[in-house]
Amino acid sequence: MISINDLSFAYDDGRMAIEHVSLDFKPGEKAALVGPNGAGKTTLLLHLNGILRGQGSVVVGEQAVDDRTIKAIRARVGLVFQSPDDQLFSSSVFDDVAYGLVYQGEEKIVIREKVAQALEVVGMPDSQARSPYHLSLGEKKRVALATVLCMQPEVLALDEPTAGLDPRGRRGILNLLADLDQTLIVATHDLEMVREIFPRVIIMDAGRVVYDGETQAALADRALLEAHGLIG
Ligand SMILES: Nc1ncnc2c1ncn2[C@@H]1O[C@H](COP(=O)(O)OP(=O)(O)O)[C@@H](O)[C@H]1O
Ligand SMILES: [Mg+2]
Repeated sequence: MISINDLSFAYDDGRMAIEHVSLDFKPGEKAALVGPNGAGKTTLLLHLNGILRGQGSVVVGEQAVDDRTIKAIRARVGLVFQSPDDQLFSSSVFDDVAYGLVYQGEEKIVIREKVAQALEVVGMPDSQARSPYHLSLGEKKRVALATVLCMQPEVLALDEPTAGLDPRGRRGILNLLADLDQTLIVATHDLEMVREIFPRVIIMDAGRVVYDGETQAALADRALLEAHGLIG
């Protein structure tokens, strides 16, 4: 489904944020991306739909991410930022969730249906007229997810979906993610969530992949977790 081949990227200051990363994801696979702050998780996610373009390649299905395919890629890979404030900018929840569909030129009746459906899935069915600005962080995170879900992407990439949530908000997101059929690639520090939902875990440290395999084996390996700052 997604293939990352020898990907490297440096920000403007020249320091490498990710180095020689190669990963393959099968359709419907649920993989977690973990590692200490600064490991390169966010940078990697930003490559999946071409927001950043490094050396090497990212291929979605049969399409390599490039100028020509970028629009199609963005429809296939939905990215949810860590901070919902980077995703929500309209004056109503409806407008935010509808935004991509409007941009695609969908008919009004289809837009209304898809927006309602996406908000239902994230458990925010009655929020259409509310201002995103006045929602709690947990609610904002749900709406941000709805903005992506309503585009029906094949792959969902989420950056720290449970960070900053209270236990109930976190549980809501966990239940939601467990029920999704799409390919899921999720950057997180929430090892309990990884244990519960993700059969595969990829550990990154200093821009490189240092483990890629079964979650159970990784989480049972204290030396591995300690070496990469995953337990204190
Ligand atoms: N906009 C940026 N400009 C310069 N360096 C950045 C920027 N964003 C991230 N970095 C650097 O890139 C590296 C990887 O960061 P990031 O991908 O955010 O890691 P993570 O999400 O795992 O915490 C870090 O060294 C970080 O300081
Ligand atoms: Mg990050």
